[in-house]
Amino acid sequence: MSHAASSPSPSSATVPQHILVTGGAGFIGANFAHWVARNHPETHITVLDALTYAGKRENLDGIFPDQLTFVHGDICDAALVESLLDRTPSPASAASPASAQPPIDAIVHFAAESHNDNSILDASPFLKTNVTGTYVLLEAARRHDLRFHHISTDEVYGDLALDDPHKFTERSPYNPSSPYSASKAASDHLVRAWHRTYGLRATISNCSNNYGPYQHVEKFIPRQITNILAGIRPKLYGQGLAVRDWINVEDHCSAIWTILVRGRIGETYLVGANGEHSNIDVLRMILEHMGRSPDDFDHVNDRPGGDVRYAIDATKIETELGWHPRFTDFSAGLDRTIDWYRTHQDWWMPDKMATEEKYRRQGH
Ligand code: NAD
Ligand code: TYD
Repeated sequence: MSHAASSPSPSSATVPQHILVTGGAGFIGANFAHWVARNHPETHITVLDALTYAGKRENLDGIFPDQLTFVHGDICDAALVESLLDRTPSPASAASPASAQPPIDAIVHFAAESHNDNSILDASPFLKTNVTGTYVLLEAARRHDLRFHHISTDEVYGDLALDDPHKFTERSPYNPSSPYSASKAASDHLVRAWHRTYGLRATISNCSNNYGPYQHVEKFIPRQITNILAGIRPKLYGQGLAVRDWINVEDHCSAIWTILVRGRIGETYLVGANGEHSNIDVLRMILEHMGRSPDDFDHVNDRPGGDVRYAIDATKIETELGWHPRFTDFSAGLDRTIDWYRTHQDWWMPDKMATEEKYRRQGH
């Protein structure tokens, strides 16, 4: 979204005092809240999360309560969002612990409906949360002149052929394939428009596929790990030749913080860690790590319109902001992720059967 209003060079580091993290009870948002709590204890975190099927309050357990305020609510609820940002303390809030915090000075926007297969069944919550919800937050950020960082996906660029020598860059044309990626593309365009039209101090990151703890069992890697743990055969869409560019969620979190404090206003940064693997290779690694035979899985229906390959060129964030991924040993990261699901069965078990039943009805 580079435009005349962009700063000429990376802004000097401005560490926010109080961030509003939307969707902070979901996979990446919760990892980000833990990352900030570990690395920036001086920054207060308010999480706003609707606790849909994908969010759990307990994902934030372990963060020191003085650093965290949790608000259960919907980003589409403009009055609620306004009440969190309004700096005039009401008589009631003046007595509450939250009023001891500095006012929110930045919004880090994760909240979204995030799963392609769900968007194919019913796109309406995707349009509501991803498009209308982003609009509500942008208007609130504009009224209060807040820093705004929007979390997006490389899926807005569509897909690449398996033999394409190119990767996505910040200059790749938008070409989304699914209702999910189309709704994220729409939200990116809103953010760009709010920057250009109103001068909103916004940045966007478009990241590749994340893996790590707290990821819902509907997603590829946790689904296969928990299938094996639950005695269900793993499920591979089609021949499994599609390629995803995997990044450890910890590296995504450090990239978001880097952009939030040092990114150039008005800019988009692609985030990735050179982690391209075909789905069948990832599944075979999981099977091997879990002591199973490499052919111990079922082929199931492919996703209609499924994207073939994503690949990120992260040169801009690396050269301009000096960010580099640290957890690039995918095999070691998979091992840690498998261990996390093995030791957190109480976390995922309640969602497992309903998720598999939904997939069964979809032929997946
Ligand atoms: P997730 O589905 O695990 O979590 C989404 C969270 O948002 C949940 O806690 C949910 O309760 C909350 N939420 C949903 N609708 C809401 C609403 N209307 N109001 C308030 N909260 C609401 O998703 P994720 O995988 O953590 O993805 C987070 C963000 O990162 C999304 O914007 C997604 O597009 C983006 N992203 C994800 C990946 C990935 O690999 N998972 C990659 C790149 C970008
Ligand atoms: P997914 O985790 O849904 O992420 P994406 O947003 O990239 O689609 O799926 C990743 C890839 O894995 C995608 O090509 C579809 C495939 N897949 C399977 O082969 N089996 C599964 O059970 C799931 C959920 C996905």
